[in-house]
Amino acid sequence: MNSLPHLNGRAALAWAALEGLAQPQKRIPCTWLYDQRGSELFEQITDLPEYYPTRTEIDLLRRHAREMAAAVGCAAVVIEIGSGSSRKTPLLLRELQAPRAYVPIDIAPHCLEASVASLKAQFTDLPMYPLVADFNQPLRLPAELPTPAGRHLCFFPGSTIGNLDPAEALAFLRRMADTLGPEARMLVGVDTTRDPAALIPAYDDPSGVTAAFNLNLLARLNRELESDFDLAAFRHEARYDHHRGRIEMHLVSRRPQEVHLLGKTFRFAAGESIHTENSHKYPVDQFQTLAQAAGWQPAGCWTDGEEHFSIHLLGRRRS
Ligand code: AVI
Repeated sequence: MNSLPHLNGRAALAWAALEGLAQPQKRIPCTWLYDQRGSELFEQITDLPEYYPTRTEIDLLRRHAREMAAAVGCAAVVIEIGSGSSRKTPLLLRELQAPRAYVPIDIAPHCLEASVASLKAQFTDLPMYPLVADFNQPLRLPAELPTPAGRHLCFFPGSTIGNLDPAEALAFLRRMADTLGPEARMLVGVDTTRDPAALIPAYDDPSGVTAAFNLNLLARLNRELESDFDLAAFRHEARYDHHRGRIEMHLVSRRPQEVHLLGKTFRFAAGESIHTENSHKYPVDQFQTLAQAAGWQPAGCWTDGEEHFSIHLLGRRRS
């Protein structure tokens, strides 16, 4: 999920593509999957019967948000990372006692506008400060946030933390600990599934929505960088890496071919792939160990009966 901090928009995409396609294992970070079309396709994925994380997490929030909110306390400033459609947010906001402000953070401005408009209609008295930002970069909270406020609550649902490598997840959790202060709490949704029989259909659904989501990355490169990827010459593949406990998405070249992008030629052998996403799955104890190493203290954990998904409440570790 690397990106250059000083580049924006098209230049950052160009850098990511040129750098990633020059690697022995070609790769493009998954942040670039989310242009407008990619965000729409991701929303469709979350409704697929095979994609268990969204409905399992929503069910956990429906059943336990009150307990989670009680543990957080009143007057919290809620900071949601990778908020997307903010579909799960009302389930939490409804239960929190007098939240002071809501700060949704997402890399996709179109998603942010639509979700804030809808939330403003439901939570008319709650000040909202949407931020377009990449959560892999240091976070600067809006200066206008009301003070004094209760504690910061970082809400990070969806198991998006699994899209970071473990070292990046550790660095992210450390940055959040530093930014949010000693009274902060985090609520993090984490996929715990390690069964390939559930994972493969969730990431390679028979209706082809995930394939379209992955292939849209090549369409985006063609649109924004005038490359000449032939989408029909690539296929989507979901691979489970048992050793790393992660699902990988790849775009596999169906035949030997050349692709041109910004004056460079990239050669593909038949079967060679571009690695486009990792989705790490963490058993409860493994995630708690990671969080502790980053300065957080496990303060609660809710899982479904089949242990497909977990929501962790974290407080700060006293040293
Ligand atoms: C956003 N993220 C948590 C999703 C996941 O499950 O890793 C993205 C996704 N990729 C394919 N399907 C969904």
